[in-house]
Amino acid sequence: MSTIDQTSLPEDDFEPLVQAGHPICLADRVSDQGTGFRFMVRTSDIAHQVGSVDHRVDETLPAFVIRYEGQAHAYLNRCAHVAMEMDWQPGEFFTHDKTAIICASHDAQYLPDTGECISGPCPSGARLIKLAIEEKDGKIFLCQAVS
Ligand code: FES
Repeated sequence: MSTIDQTSLPEDDFEPLVQAGHPICLADRVSDQGTGFRFMVRTSDIAHQVGSVDHRVDETLPAFVIRYEGQAHAYLNRCAHVAMEMDWQPGEFFTHDKTAIICASHDAQYLPDTGECISGPCPSGARLIKLAIEEKDGKIFLCQAVS
């Protein structure tokens, strides 16, 4: 019987469930201001980072990673206006000029590096829920949970 390689990486067209401390995708999978990579996370893995997620229920939630000005950033795929996924095509989160993340539903826009809402119907001060990630050894990892 073969063992599962915990460091194996998913296929491009597959949205993996990524556990904290494990790789999300290869670093070069997300090019600067290009198509993002969609994945899934469990609330139990990200609750320490995400105050507004109810972690009493261990849900699986959609998330994505993008690259902006050379730096990778990951967020829950959940608009701050209505809790809906935002990409206008799978993995496409950027505006046409590539300067902001845009929600396909009602055009809320967010700064790619902080997730702060900069226009659209979001409540004042709204932002995307950012996930802690680390880029090393040619991969992007979801950071380990810390208590
Ligand atoms: S759901 Fe995103 S702008 Fe309304």
